Amino acid sequence: MHLTVALLRMGFKVGTIDLDGRQKTFSRYMENRNTWIAENGIKLKMPEHRTIQRSGKDSSIEATAEDEETLRHTVKELSVRNSFVVVDCPGSDVPLARYAHALADTLITPINDSLVDLDVIVQMETNALVDLDAIRDTTFREPGVYTSMVMTQRKLRMQKMRSGMDWIVLRNRLSSLADKNKAALSDMLGRLSKVMGFRLTSGFGERVVFRQLFLSGLTVLDLRDQGVEYKLTMSHVAARQEVRGLLAALWLPKVEERLDRI
Ligand SMILES: Nc1ncnc2c1ncn2[C@@H]1O[C@H](COP(=O)(O)OP(=O)(O)OP(=O)(O)O)[C@@H](O)[C@H]1O
Ligand SMILES: [Mg+2]
Repeated sequence: MHLTVALLRMGFKVGTIDLDGRQKTFSRYMENRNTWIAENGIKLKMPEHRTIQRSGKDSSIEATAEDEETLRHTVKELSVRNSFVVVDCPGSDVPLARYAHALADTLITPINDSLVDLDVIVQMETNALVDLDAIRDTTFREPGVYTSMVMTQRKLRMQKMRSGMDWIVLRNRLSSLADKNKAALSDMLGRLSKVMGFRLTSGFGERVVFRQLFLSGLTVLDLRDQGVEYKLTMSHVAARQEVRGLLAALWLPKVEERLDRI
């Protein structure tokens, strides 16, 4: 949501796709934003949004083919009028999400700053978990389930479209305290990025504001706009900086020169 609004504020037209047609959190956020605009009479920028429902076909082969066709068609349709298309994937490994990975020029993978979440990226030698210091030198056993999926889709993309993918791993919900766990994970992700072929960005802190704004459909980027009554704190300023940091890290055309508009 923050990525979308950042691009909108930079003056780009943006298309958005919610691939989780059951949970629809991304779509609900958009609905809340529309409601807020209607109730407050303040014109906030909106993307052109689509929610995709999974195929209901019985045969899994037919269902996968239909899902891929729906997504391909939606991305194509949105690309005609928009500079960027932002796709939100469900957490589960479903054909729609897999195919979306193959279509992505840029893939952003947020991971919570915890060894539990890291397991989907890489499986490590288990004895290393006994001592945090040892994590720094631990050997990686094999790619985690998520990384394996990304590697497969990346390869397919290279074969079919002759195009690479910029994969970014973003650490999310970082604690404000400098603890040992945080430092060990940071070291390890740095090492891992070279092996797995992703880029690591500075990430996002654990902040109440990221949980609070859903019902209004606002993002931290909207809070200083005229007519938006919101008491700004230091945490909001820092959150805004984090969003800007993410955009600055992306290799997207014309974005760097517009960072000051966020
Ligand atoms: N940096 C953050 N600070 C505070 N809360 C956060 C932060 N990032 C995410 N959250 C909260 O964590 C919960 C899950 O976030 P989010 O929906 O972004 O995760 P997700 O991985 O996309 O989940 P899903 O797999 O269901 O799509 C939400 O309640 C969200 O507000
Ligand atoms: Mg999600």
